[in-house]
Amino acid sequence: MIEMRDVWFSYGDRDVLKGVNMGLRKGEVAILLGKNGAGKSTLLMHLNGLLKPKKGEIIVDGKKISYDRKSLSQLRRLVGFVFQNPDDQIVAPTVWQDIVFGPENIGARDDEKVKKIMERLGLEGYGGRLCSSLSGGEKKRVAIAGVLAMEPDYIVMDEPTAGVDGIGLKEIAEIVRNLKENGKGVIISTHDLDFAKAIGDRFMILDDGRIIYDDVFVDYSLAERCGIRTWLSEGEVVLVPHDHSIPDTDEFDFIAVMGKSAREKLEKEGIEADITTAGMERAFLRAIGGARVMLVCSRSMIGVVEREAKTYPVRLSFHDGGKRHERHGVHSWSRSGRC
Ligand SMILES: Nc1ncnc2c1ncn2[C@@H]1O[C@H](COP(=O)(O)OP(=O)(O)O)[C@@H](O)[C@H]1O
Ligand SMILES: [Mg+2]
Repeated sequence: MIEMRDVWFSYGDRDVLKGVNMGLRKGEVAILLGKNGAGKSTLLMHLNGLLKPKKGEIIVDGKKISYDRKSLSQLRRLVGFVFQNPDDQIVAPTVWQDIVFGPENIGARDDEKVKKIMERLGLEGYGGRLCSSLSGGEKKRVAIAGVLAMEPDYIVMDEPTAGVDGIGLKEIAEIVRNLKENGKGVIISTHDLDFAKAIGDRFMILDDGRIIYDDVFVDYSLAERCGIRTWLSEGEVVLVPHDHSIPDTDEFDFIAVMGKSAREKLEKEGIEADITTAGMERAFLRAIGGARVMLVCSRSMIGVVEREAKTYPVRLSFHDGGKRHERHGVHSWSRSGRC
């Protein structure tokens, strides 16, 4: 496990990390989200000793990082770092020379292993190619291969999808899944939420120098508030507890109901719901499609809906006895109702 404990870092006198606490276990893929300039690269560079904290400590497999040359060289065998720009990583003229460079340096070159890694990354037959002649996606794979050739237990990837096309993206996702299956701990900073959701086990948000969120699902609304582009849908789910007045149904595209008391309430009011089974899931799916959906639910279910809402890229607002609150600080009045 890699742990960061109360890590502070500044460039000059500007604090960029202000007490970061986080952990990365083997066999998991952690995603680090944060707007541009939030300090993601700065944080990641602490994990293999590229940067040294001003205060706090980083502990790898129970051992605090030391910053002498020997310790750092050991650390870098344990924690590999894939730079955002492969040109910062690639050191040798040809693909083969570049991939064997690391292992050779530490006297652990194993050509068979390197060949296997190249195969896994779709780089067979690339050995003699000049790195300078490769496309962005190919360079990225060479850079990753160079890191994997060192057989690290942890792999840090800084924005691996930047400048990579759709096919390259799929390939990188596959590589990451493969690393996880092989028990590696992977931490990835990215802006690409689709990619993140496809591979991530855990999602962290770095904001104002601190990890303010760390959970197994993406909290879209919070991410949006932190300036992370989320593609949050135009749609909205308005949550109405069964023991409150029902808002004007004309304002909504769909009415969904969930729970016995909520059903009874609608019946009493003579309102017919459009969605009566799997109310919550369907309400969110319709909202993702851009609709405004009223979800009438039993009061006891509000917590469940609120938690579930975070996993969908939609707005949730709360109608409570004529008043309407914003949830997660997202504006819910911006979209007019059905025409
Ligand atoms: N070498 C540096 N010298 C001075 N400031 C830097 C340096 N690298 C990054 N910064 C600043 O630190 C902040 C965090 O940068 P960075 O860690 O690159 O953020 P992110 O990766 O989230 O975009 C930014 O304001 C950036 O301009
Ligand atoms: Mg960065």
